[in-house]
Amino acid sequence: MKRIALAGIIATAVVGVGVFALMNKPETKTPPTQQKTAKNQSQVKPTPVFIHIPGETAFPARVEDYDAPSSLWVLVSKKYPLSDETYVPDVIGKPSVAVNEAKTAEEQSLRTDAIQPVNALFAAAKSAGHDVMVASGYRSYGLQQTYFSSYSAAYGEDAANMFSARPGQSEHQTGLSLDISLTSRQCYLEICFGETAAGKWLAAHAHEYGFILRYPSDKTAVTEYQYEPWHFRYVGNELAGALYRSGLTLDEAHAYLQQARSELKQRGSI
Ligand code: DAL
Ligand code: ZN
Repeated sequence: MKRIALAGIIATAVVGVGVFALMNKPETKTPPTQQKTAKNQSQVKPTPVFIHIPGETAFPARVEDYDAPSSLWVLVSKKYPLSDETYVPDVIGKPSVAVNEAKTAEEQSLRTDAIQPVNALFAAAKSAGHDVMVASGYRSYGLQQTYFSSYSAAYGEDAANMFSARPGQSEHQTGLSLDISLTSRQCYLEICFGETAAGKWLAAHAHEYGFILRYPSDKTAVTEYQYEPWHFRYVGNELAGALYRSGLTLDEAHAYLQQARSELKQRGSI
């Protein structure tokens, strides 16, 4: 009898401890690795849209509308004037490099996105022994109109339009383009700048800093502008590198960019 009572006490104690342990059992948590997987599944990102330039490794497309004047990849040309012809970039600023002091503060400026790249390009040029300056940067619609009118008066409209864009058709209005000259002004905005050591260095290295030589000597039929060894346009490193290696102008890459733009539109990303 005594034994039975003792067994009963032990059994009760064991059950009690079990119930206590169950009640105080820590909340079951999903192991961190599984949690991560579940989270990733619910926030799964679509594969990026890529830019496919023949012969080049595909690279991710910028998620923006390339037809917008504010896009880093906007094509501005005679065929593709700015969609808003009086577009003004949100923010412009002065790069910390030599500039043509004879120009207005505005024309010495560039869109903010291009400032650090210009500083880096000019620092590299200097290290390579070339003293260059910004001869012309951002140009408003009104300023471009002034330039174009004065060149037209001097040379006739058609001749002027081979080296000066009509207002609303100049890349300078995006704040992403600049004319580069030697600080000595040797071959200042002249074809012979392309033959100077600085001109050659820029043509060979600008893409490493995200810039393209926009109007090459052998692409006049495509760009509809004469060779301008001084005019560079910021498009970012990946596109600049692809255009440099493939030998394509921005005009010729337009179709590939538009392909990506269509995909981004279809997805509702832009
Ligand atoms: N010189 C280039 C074409 C411009 O005026 O924008
Ligand atoms: Zn220019």
